[in-house]
Formats: sequence, structure tokens, C-alpha cells
Amino acid sequence: MSHVIAVPDPSLILLIGAAGSGKSTFARTHFKPVEIISSDFCRALVCNKEADQSATLDAFDVLRLIVRKRLRRGLLTVVDATNVQLKARRRLLPFAVQCEVPAIAIVFDVAEEVCLARNQSRPERQVRAEVVREQMEDLKRARPLLAREGFSAVHVFADATQSDSAVISRSAHPWRLE
Ligand code: UTP
Ligand code: MG
Repeated sequence: MSHVIAVPDPSLILLIGAAGSGKSTFARTHFKPVEIISSDFCRALVCNKEADQSATLDAFDVLRLIVRKRLRRGLLTVVDATNVQLKARRRLLPFAVQCEVPAIAIVFDVAEEVCLARNQSRPERQVRAEVVREQMEDLKRARPLLAREGFSAVHVFADATQSDSAVISRSAHPWRLE
């Protein structure tokens, strides 16, 4: 059976998962390009190269700026970054609170071997195996915390087939109703 994810519009959607877990593929399948703010794209904006880790701080400044501006306008926004670290989520969730839109977590709890294999098979950008392993550890630590971080809903894909077959059910959210 497909996993149905209710998505209020507007909302802030955080994709959470290690490199190669399928976040960008999922985002492209279900959301419009302008709704997806990815850390890779923001890296490319500030330094031309998607994979240049030295641009991370500037890239995330840009990412947060765009996310905040979109939410202030009541526009659904998907953050396509690993978001496995608590500090990364803590810098985004307050924007949803300030703009009075719900925040939704979509977790890609995909096996490490799958992430590593997918990583190796893509030509454009490969993340080192030890980095993927660290992200998996961060994700393990994050799982029990997510329910108490302020998300309106936390959806978890327990394997790659679940994210492949998921269905998004979008519905209008009464944005900033008194
Ligand atoms: P993604 O590029 O979607 O992973 O998939 P990601 O989570 O966004 O990774 P980062 O964080 O940006 O590094 C990785 C590879 O796996 C394939 C994609 O085509 C891509 O080459 N993939 C993804 C599949 O083969 N099947 C899927 O269901 C999802
Ligand atoms: Mg990606």
C-alpha cells in the first residue's frame, strides 16, 4: 500500500536523510521546481560548484534567506538538504512558527548500503562513504527527537520502496487565519 502524506499548503517541508537516500529525486517527483530549495543549488549559486563544501556557510545563509522570504509570502517550501543535524533543523523551524505555517518532516530512513550504492552510481557528485556513515549516525540520533521538535507531522520512509511509491495529498491550509 502507498504511503499517503498529507501536505498542507502552505507549509515548510524538511526532507531529512543521508546523501543518496533519495531526497532530491522525491522532491522533483512531487513538487514544483520553484518550491524546492536545495543546499546543492544554493552552493552552486554562491560558488558555481554544487559539491564545493567550502561554500557551505554562504550556501545555507542563502537557503535560509529564500526559505524565510517564501514562507512570509505564504508559499509552500521544501528544504532539500540532509537536515540530519539538530542544529540545522533548529535554524529552520522557527521560520514556520514566525510565519504561522505548519512544518512537516519527511524522513528517508534508507539503508546505508542503498545510500552508498546510489552515491557511487551517480556521476555528477559523490559523497565519501565515511560522510554518509556519519549522516546515518546523525539520523539515528535524530529519529526519537523529531516528534518533540515542533513538527505538525513526521513521516518516515523505512526503505527506498516506500519513498518511491508515496503519494502526496495536498490541501489548502488556512494561512494566518485569526
Ligand atoms: P538523490 O540524488 O535523490 O539522493 O538520489 P539525495 O538524498 O538527494 O542525495 P544528496 O543528499 O543530494 O547527496 C541519489 C541517486 O539515487 C538514484 C538517483 O537517480 C540518484 O542518482 N535514485 C534515487 C534511485 O535510483 N532510485 C530512487 O528511488 C531514488
Ligand atoms: Mg540531493
